[in-house]
Amino acid sequence: MKSYIDLIQQSFEFPTMEFNVEDNQLLFNNVPLMDIINEHGTPLKLTYLPKIGEHIENARMFFRNAFKRHNYKGTYTYCYCTKSSHFSFVLEEALKHNIHIETSSSYDIPIIRELYRTGHITKSTYILANGFKRPLYTQYLSELINEGFNAIPILDNLKEIESYEQLTNAETVNFGIRIATDEEPNFAFYTSRLGIRYNDVLDLYKEKIKPNPRFNLKMLHFFINTGIKDSAYYWSELTRFMFKYCEMQKICPELDSIDIGGGLPIQTSLTSNYDYQQMVDEIVENIQWICNKNNVPVPHIFTEFGSYTVGESGAVMYKVIDKKLQNDKELWYMIDGSFITHLPDSWGMNQKYIMMPINNWDNPYQKVNLGGLTCDSQDFYNTEMHSSDLYLPIFTEDETQYIGFFHTGAYQESLGGYGGIQHCLIPAPKHVLIDRDEEGAIVTRVFADAQDSESMLKILGYGRDRAFVEKKMEKLQEEPRPEEVAEVEEKGAVAKKAEKRQLIQK
Ligand SMILES: Cc1ncc(COP(=O)(O)O)c(C=O)c1O
Repeated sequence: MKSYIDLIQQSFEFPTMEFNVEDNQLLFNNVPLMDIINEHGTPLKLTYLPKIGEHIENARMFFRNAFKRHNYKGTYTYCYCTKSSHFSFVLEEALKHNIHIETSSSYDIPIIRELYRTGHITKSTYILANGFKRPLYTQYLSELINEGFNAIPILDNLKEIESYEQLTNAETVNFGIRIATDEEPNFAFYTSRLGIRYNDVLDLYKEKIKPNPRFNLKMLHFFINTGIKDSAYYWSELTRFMFKYCEMQKICPELDSIDIGGGLPIQTSLTSNYDYQQMVDEIVENIQWICNKNNVPVPHIFTEFGSYTVGESGAVMYKVIDKKLQNDKELWYMIDGSFITHLPDSWGMNQKYIMMPINNWDNPYQKVNLGGLTCDSQDFYNTEMHSSDLYLPIFTEDETQYIGFFHTGAYQESLGGYGGIQHCLIPAPKHVLIDRDEEGAIVTRVFADAQDSESMLKILGYGRDRAFVEKKMEKLQEEPRPEEVAEVEEKGAVAKKAEKRQLIQK
């Protein structure tokens, strides 16, 4: 019978730049994954940090090439969409490549402040502030603007600008307007709820921005939910957007930029071969063609790639802890983690990832279903992007099988939460960061250990009495007062009683 490596080599061009096999074991960006597992165990999340910079530079190169090819006179600015992954190690890595930032929440702004405090950004870093903004968000943004940060609120509704009228005092306040796109024809709604409808953009400018000598409209923004892809839908939305830009630019000379959002896709299968350069070429060519047709200077182009920045840096590795043949045909490989909690996109949005075994590549293979640890019947994974079946090595009782999901770096914690309470109390796995030193050697560091039960008990409100008593006792040892002694004794008695009750119940 053929081995797993034969299957992969017959189905794909393998090895790839990213994946290789040595001694029967998988390498991810030349990192021997079994070494990492042997050191840290499973389930394990990992982030290969150099990938983040690689993708930022790739995107810059696509735009540089396209600008050269079409003699495009504008500039290109790379922003990172923080909601894809807010982790400090992601932002700090991305910021080594002189990127700018797109935010979507008031809680992003303390992150911006911290990045400024630690010298990762300067006041000239663009902060493109998207999202439907509640008062705290507009207040934080106004404070940044008043202090001279290069923050640009992207207006998402007609009332938002009133906050900046009241809260800003800077000489110049630059704005963007997000224009609501039409959704893809098969979507539940016709027009996106996000942004301002095409018909209202002109009036918003004329009534609220133009009359205010401190206010400038600098940018128009649109985001196509389904991503940048070569479809009639994408091209028609981009064209409509660019015609609006030209119409607005003719009456608003300060308008000189467009933000075409995120949506550059990542590889979800060994077969995907998205032609990034060609797509960027066509976008640039279309923008230029429409501007030329309307006698309008071409805009500076901003993007806010989230998945593309961070997605391919991430992986999750599991051990197969049991094999269950539940009928004559359906074989389950049970993993030591869960799809619902660790990879919520795979469960909630049917998102596919590159999935491969980490070891036993010389073993024969079989069709399997992967089962997660929660009790939810939906906690499984059994198809791939390119195939309706899933194959993994057959392994004996003496062997251990490890598997990996790759390109999982974006949105999983934004959707599933991190370090909180999840289905069946499945803990957040240990997370390891992998980097390269100046000589190119692999350097690893633990970002976080696996979540412990203490942190869950705390979130769930258990053990409060105990904590109260311990804290008071500490204080009492400093200077006991009679009424405090009485109070503590009373609380202690309550806590003791509760503990006793729990023991009895057990
Ligand atoms: C306004 C906006 N910009 C950028 C992004 C990032 O998209 P992606 O991760 O597909 O690049 C999103 C994602 O939802 C978004 O809503």
